[in-house]
Amino acid sequence: MKITISTLRKMYENNEKFAVLTCYDALFSSILENCGVDVLLVGDSLGNVIQGEKTTLSVTLDDMVYHTRCVARGAEKALIMADMPFGTSQLSPQHTFENAGKLLAAGAQIVKIEGGRIMAETVDFLTQRGIPVCAHIGLTPQSVHQFGGYKLQGHSEATARQLIDDARILEESGAALLLMELVPATLAKQITEALHIPTIGIGAGRACSAQVLVLHDMLGLYQGKKIRFIKDFMENSCSIQEAIRNYVEAVKNNQFPDSEHEY
Ligand code: KIV
Repeated sequence: MKITISTLRKMYENNEKFAVLTCYDALFSSILENCGVDVLLVGDSLGNVIQGEKTTLSVTLDDMVYHTRCVARGAEKALIMADMPFGTSQLSPQHTFENAGKLLAAGAQIVKIEGGRIMAETVDFLTQRGIPVCAHIGLTPQSVHQFGGYKLQGHSEATARQLIDDARILEESGAALLLMELVPATLAKQITEALHIPTIGIGAGRACSAQVLVLHDMLGLYQGKKIRFIKDFMENSCSIQEAIRNYVEAVKNNQFPDSEHEY
């Protein structure tokens, strides 16, 4: 049976963790769901992984529509989440709705939007009109130049407070899910405990309701300098399928991330 937002909601209410991986094509979408991945994130990280760019800033809506359609063709069961790329969610709620509609038409069941309280009006506009939203806070890669690099967020008392408030505001605006990237594990725990919606962590510690990694990173294909939150699941596996199953099991059993992979 197709996984929906309601399925994730039930898992959350039953304290059952769900496993998320990025996915960009049809073959991998069927492999990932057959290995137990609950949510396929068509991430704008495809700018880095597929297109070889240094940032995600040049990814277009057409790129996202194309890859979402590919992923949707291969997936029967897993929920499909698609990223709103840079420039498609910042102008106005109406403009965002128009763009998000194209991702839904391509097969997405929920869209992910980067940004804190500034996106609250947009989140409200979309959810009131039938488009579920996953809010994304912490390190939001589309703001890399504002942050001056891919850095841990929320490590001072003031910035932690700001992220807690952002999370609350986005939940009140109707976000169905909240993704936190590159924040201290204690802060992610505090936010997860304060909210009544599932949280998804990447570099945010084990207390989140779910975990996500970039597929190519967890398959040991990442080529940059070592990043603490990435775990190579191929290291102790004999096949890609085994590595993915091990990731799903580790997330669901709360074994990943461990202290080695959090901040
Ligand atoms: O684009 C992406 O893959 C993401 C994850 C890193 C969370 O947003």
